[in-house]
Amino acid sequence: MQFIKDSKTLRALVSELRRDSKVIGLAPTMGNLHAGHMQLVTQAKARCDFVISTIFVNPLQFGPSEDLDAYPRTLDADRELLKAHDCDALFAPSVEEIYGGNMEQQTTIHVPVISENYCGSSRPGHFDGVATVVCKLLNLVAPDIAFFGLKDYQQFLVIKKMVADLALPTQIAGVDTVREASGLAMSSRNGYLDKDQRDSAVAIHDSLQSTAEALRTGNKHFSALEQEAMESLRAAGLKPDYFAICHAQTLQPAKAHDTELVILAAAFVGPSRLIDNLRLNV
Ligand code: PAF
Repeated sequence: MQFIKDSKTLRALVSELRRDSKVIGLAPTMGNLHAGHMQLVTQAKARCDFVISTIFVNPLQFGPSEDLDAYPRTLDADRELLKAHDCDALFAPSVEEIYGGNMEQQTTIHVPVISENYCGSSRPGHFDGVATVVCKLLNLVAPDIAFFGLKDYQQFLVIKKMVADLALPTQIAGVDTVREASGLAMSSRNGYLDKDQRDSAVAIHDSLQSTAEALRTGNKHFSALEQEAMESLRAAGLKPDYFAICHAQTLQPAKAHDTELVILAAAFVGPSRLIDNLRLNV
């Protein structure tokens, strides 16, 4: 696996791959890799000739009181895991390489409407930071297909909208959430949890499932279902941020005639803010 830290080397590699008409796949991450990230690589390997993964803890998508400094950085272990999954190249740039030492004056991308509720309102500026760095990575790598986890479902829609609006020539592929045996969605932030918190965190997936069950039986009392789920999260010792039943493409609050739904949830469990979602057709 090639290990690249600078954009010039990355661009040279990409030009060579293009000359050889290779299909390039991109699996962007912030590192501290787990089975969920490996699923991005596995799917990219299945559909592309050459897979580039990126590891970059992007300061622009963290708020001032968030966990940028504490975010786990495990580059050596990540390299081994990527190698074991036959990833072809890893791009792990420094903050200076990406932002040229001038992050405050960085041109940023704002994707209106779809980025503004849920995680967008709880984490002001977060999706501008995500859209900006993903746009940069797409411009540096020029992949045919880029793979993103569907656990971050709002992020996935924000990126798809940005790519469509800016006519970027990359297909955006969503990869299903990988779960622990308990149902807990895999996340680097699970690493902040102790055993009891990890057990309590399962309530997020449980509440998504019981709400989905009610929706499948024809219950359309969306706000009552949301309130019930918030209560069940509180009863499990979590601090829910939001629990929302939405239209799966627009993320607008669900209406009785909608058939394609997504239930979005975010909750604090001890030191971690965890998110999860469940998509369903009714
Ligand atoms: O989902 C993530 O890991 C990050 O938000 C991403 C897409 C790599 C951008 O920093």
